[in-house]
Parts: sequence; structure tokens; C-alpha cells
Amino acid sequence: MRLFVTGASGYFGSNLLPRLIEAGHKLVCLIRKGSEKKIEKYLEDIEIISGGISEIPSWKDQLEDIDAFINLIGIIREFPSRGITFEKLHFRTTKSLADLASERGIKRFLQMSALGASPDSKAEYHRTKYKAEQYLQESGLAWTIFRPAFIIGKGNDFVETVLNLMDSAPLFPIIGSGEYRMQPVDVDNVTEGFVKSLSEQTASGKIYEIGGPDRFSYNRMVDLIAEARGKKARKIHLPVFMMKGVAGLFEYFKSFPLTKGQINMLLEENFTDSREFFEDLNITPIIFDESIKKALS
Ligand SMILES: NC(=O)c1ccc[n+]([C@@H]2O[C@H](COP(=O)([O-])OP(=O)(O)OC[C@H]3O[C@@H](n4cnc5c(N)ncnc54)[C@H](OP(=O)(O)O)[C@@H]3O)[C@@H](O)[C@H]2O)c1
Repeated sequence: MRLFVTGASGYFGSNLLPRLIEAGHKLVCLIRKGSEKKIEKYLEDIEIISGGISEIPSWKDQLEDIDAFINLIGIIREFPSRGITFEKLHFRTTKSLADLASERGIKRFLQMSALGASPDSKAEYHRTKYKAEQYLQESGLAWTIFRPAFIIGKGNDFVETVLNLMDSAPLFPIIGSGEYRMQPVDVDNVTEGFVKSLSEQTASGKIYEIGGPDRFSYNRMVDLIAEARGKKARKIHLPVFMMKGVAGLFEYFKSFPLTKGQINMLLEENFTDSREFFEDLNITPIIFDESIKKALS
């Protein structure tokens, strides 16, 4: 198939690209100027449309013979003063792409959403992911929506950040009790799902919630990451109200690592029953121990 991929230069995209290429697909990727270097390894194998989502009229005629769209664009924090908002990047971007696909008669559309997408979430991240899903579901396109939990794998900053913090600080900060549950999923399971969905009819019209086979608390996840490197995590628990207060004051500074929205997402927990995804697409779930080893290798 000839695929139009948006968000290909990110962490997940750069894991998905080689899988799609291996499967024999031809890729046309919309890449912002300067971001090509993030996927240098694949530049010879893909076609690039250089530009942003807001410039659709200037590049849309380059979309010749596309069979499907894959939209991975997303942000984890917003900077409204710079026009970077969840509403724009999650909802309005998906709407523009879905409209473009419809206009060009391209039916198949794979959409990256997130576990927790809901109109009732406290986090704008999840509310706008949900709004995008709703638009797509009413678009008349042949959509598949993926809602992964935290995606673990090589190239994800989280594992490195945890280990660096353990090396540089005497105590590892945990927000609140740390007993909120997580269900990280291996990046290879999610990329396999995207690739297989392109050929599996049964995937069309499905919302796949995707968590890994292991469910544990945030505390336990930090312990497991530490143990994988032969370390012991010495934790300090910081009150939620205090962390929300500090994040509220500093979150619009890019260098401050945390936002109130991210704290809300952690506390809302992130786990699900993913049997439909693994069974429909005949995928073997990868256990967390394996994922950590791969991420650290
Ligand atoms: N990572 C996870 O654990 C996780 C879990 C669930 C769902 N997701 C979803 O998976 C998707 C990919 O996540 P990721 O972890 O790969 O994130 P990422 O590394 O930050 O990649 C985000 C992608 O979106 C693009 N993008 C961001 N702002 C843009 C803008 N203004 N215009 C055009 N493109 C823009 C980025 O392009 P540039 O390279 O040019 O910045 C990049 O290609 C997102 O939709 C995210 O919500 C991720």
C-alpha cells in the first residue's frame, strides 16, 4: 500500500517506519522542516513532503495514489502562548486530515489516540483525543483507532529520565502515594498492531485499547526499571496538592518537566482489557521485563 504518515518523526513514528517499510509499504511522510534528521536512517526509503499541517493547500496535490492515512501527531503538553494546544494538535489536526482524506476519496484511516481518551477526563489531553476520535467516527471513513497505554521501548525518554534521576538525586520523587496503576505496552506490540490493521478487515471500525500483559503500580514500575539496571530506587513521596501547585506555576516554562495535566493523567490511572487487540490481530503480548531489557539494550 501507499501510505501517508503524519507524526512519523516522533518516538512512536520512528519505531513504526521500519515495520511499515519491511512489510513492503511505500511511505509518504509529512515532516516539519528540521525534523527530517530524527528519521535520517529511513530517508532513502520514504518520500518526504516538507511542511506542516496548517499548510495543507500547498502540499495536498502531492498525495498521489495514497491508499491510507496514518495519523500519529500528538503532544504531551501545551504552550498556548505559542499556539501549541491540545485542541489544535489533537482535534483540529485530525479533523483537517480526515477532511482531506474524504476530499481525496481515501477511505482507510489509522488514528493514534491514547488510553483514557474520554469526554469526562480531567486532562485536556484525553478530552481532545476523544473529540478527535468522535469526529473520525462520524466521517464516513474506514477508521481504526488505537488507544495505547504508556508505550515502552527504545527511544522513549521516560526510562532514561528515571535512571538519570536515580543517578543524580539521592531520592526519587513520586507524586502522591504512587499506588496508581499502570499497564505499559511494548512499542513492538503497538507497531505490529498498526501494520496488521492495514490488511485485517476486522480492524476497520474498531477502537483498540492496548495495555501490556503486566499491570502494576507506578511505585512498582519505578522499582522494576531500577532493578533492571541493578539499582534500588529510594523514593520520596510528594503531596499531590503541592506538586499541582508547583506545576501550575511553572508548567508553561518548557524546561519545567511536569504539568498539572500530566499529574491528572497519572492519578486517573492507565489500564485496560486489551484482549480484542491481541486476539483480532494475532499478536503475542510482550512482558514488561522483556520490554525493559530491550529499552535498555
Ligand atoms: N508515547 C506514549 O507512551 C504514547 C502513549 C499513548 C499515545 N501516544 C500517542 O502517540 C502519538 C505519538 O507519540 P510519541 O510518543 O511518538 O510523541 P512524539 O515523539 O512527541 O512525536 C510527536 C509527533 O507529532 C509531531 N508534531 C508535534 N507537534 C506538531 C505540529 N505542531 N505540527 C506537526 N507535527 C507535530 C512531531 O513532529 P516533530 O518531530 O516535527 O516535532 C512528531 O512527529 C501521539 O499522538 C501520542 O499522543 C503516545
